[in-house]
Amino acid sequence: MESRIEEHPILGVQEKGRIVKFTYNGKEMEGYEGEPIAATLKAAGVMVHRYTKKEHKPRGIFCAIGRCTDCVMVVDGQPNVRTCITPLKEGMKVETQYGVSAEPFDKQ
Ligand code: FES
Repeated sequence: MESRIEEHPILGVQEKGRIVKFTYNGKEMEGYEGEPIAATLKAAGVMVHRYTKKEHKPRGIFCAIGRCTDCVMVVDGQPNVRTCITPLKEGMKVETQYGVSAEPFDKQ
């Protein structure tokens, strides 16, 4: 069973665009253009989007409407991008966020 969000209870039916390539932590992946990045990652089984700055606790999709910031990631070098409301585009570079960086804590 695919875990893609087909119909969001608040945002409604998600339109599928063309298939585009992007990278997630350096790994090439595919998703639907215009679909929220978080939905694409969830469909691929990715549940952790960031680690908290102080306690290094994992966080992922929570509200899915752009309110909680649990889904923020580093996108094209920009930290704190709310992936649940940011549309996927061709060639995006999506990275797990550690505090406010894409560098794992042991390398900061
Ligand atoms: S899941 Fe809450 S802002 Fe994205």
